[in-house]
Amino acid sequence: EKGGYEHFMLKEIYEQPRSIADCMRGRLDAKNGRLVLGGLRDYMNKFQNADRIIITACGTSWHAGLVAEYLFEEFARIPVEVEYASEFRYRNPVVNEKDFVIAISQSGETADTLAAIELAKSKGATIFGVCNVVGSSIARATHAGSYTHAGPEIGVASTKAFTAQISVLTMMALMLGYQRGTLTESKYVQLLNELEKIPSKVEETLQMNPHIEEISAEYKDARNFLYLGRGYNFPVALEGALKLKEISYIHAEGYPAAEMKHGPIALIDEEMPVVFIATKDNSYEKVVSNIQEVKARKGKIIAVVTEGDTTVKSMADHVLEIPDTAEAFVPLLSVIPLQILSYHIAVMRGCNVDQPRNLAKSVTVE
Ligand code: M6R
Repeated sequence: EKGGYEHFMLKEIYEQPRSIADCMRGRLDAKNGRLVLGGLRDYMNKFQNADRIIITACGTSWHAGLVAEYLFEEFARIPVEVEYASEFRYRNPVVNEKDFVIAISQSGETADTLAAIELAKSKGATIFGVCNVVGSSIARATHAGSYTHAGPEIGVASTKAFTAQISVLTMMALMLGYQRGTLTESKYVQLLNELEKIPSKVEETLQMNPHIEEISAEYKDARNFLYLGRGYNFPVALEGALKLKEISYIHAEGYPAAEMKHGPIALIDEEMPVVFIATKDNSYEKVVSNIQEVKARKGKIIAVVTEGDTTVKSMADHVLEIPDTAEAFVPLLSVIPLQILSYHIAVMRGCNVDQPRNLAKSVTVE
């Protein structure tokens, strides 16, 4: 059932080229410039005219929501708020009929997310679900939705569900931007073509596995880890840190790289591995200077970079190269080496990778 893999988590990491392709199948047809999400059809008007998009979720799904915030604001120019379901529901939030709420959940059974949906629904908002499990409670409680079609995810640490969620949210943002005219036809078509290449670029990224395994051996006894990224890679930093802490029990924190100087920099010494996501994008130069600051304090640097990068290579202790893509699609690639890193470190520490202590696959208590 693990298809020859030692753990479900590794199998699911390796399934990503296929699960992302499955998620796009029948929806994205770049050659003909077409993108259709069936579940959105009847609600496109509401979506397009929403005053605001509220995204609610927990854990990894909340990280996918953060990526979506960048996507929706960049492509569709609609303000977005991303809310932890557990906070949203308990604070008497301002929600009304003009709000379009997106609930993201792999299992579709997370109690806090379900309760947040019921609350927003009672205030008249339209609720759209992005779920993996067909027929789940959240899928049934929403007005409409698009499934992620990632297939069953058994490992408690979410991997392929995360990239499938981002794939659906990316398609939603592109459709919305195109309909609203905030995304030009030529840019739209160019992005559709780039999106179609993502599964094969994920495949390419997976080839780093043996290299990441070697690096993991060097850091498996670390007591802390810092993950830093900016822009689209900020949520990826949070996700990398969450993956490491939940399966290896190493304390890890994710931060937007620019926030480092407002506190976390005090933690840096030769004992502190810092994972930078430093791909070639708008904030690249800034991230490079953050890397220099960590190096000056003798922190160990593992950097995820764009293929062919030489600047970061000359500074970092280790680099993990991912293929070049559109800035907005980078999370689909940059998260892969971080999933693999946490996997190997957890295995080397003798942890129960698929069923970490104290955790359940779906959290049905509030
Ligand atoms: O099933 P959901 O997506 O609603 O679950 C949300 C979180 O419980 C989940 O993402 C959790 O954080 C994972 N264990 C992360 O790997």
